[in-house]
Amino acid sequence: MFVPLERLVNLDEGYRRTFQVEGRSLLLLVLDNQPLLLIDSCPHKGASLSVATLSGNILRCQRHGIEFQLPSGIPVQAPCPGLSLLKVAYEGDCIGIDV
Ligand code: FES
Repeated sequence: MFVPLERLVNLDEGYRRTFQVEGRSLLLLVLDNQPLLLIDSCPHKGASLSVATLSGNILRCQRHGIEFQLPSGIPVQAPCPGLSLLKVAYEGDCIGIDV
């Protein structure tokens, strides 16, 4: 089942917004004109990434400062798992997720 998240026309560079889908908090952002959808939970200790700083393609969690490369989600020199990236889906003029 397709769950729409945002209209494509609104996905400008720098876009960032969180959504609740079936009990999961998701973060949709646009980097280099590419939409990325991830679980809004830092793999280190679970902080929300909605307020993480983004510098180039490095997303830095605000809680303890661990950095993750985007779009891979791989942590930069940190002993924790990578970000959980999800597959986006498209329907009509919307981006969303298949659940
Ligand atoms: S919770 Fe994100 S760096 Fe610790």
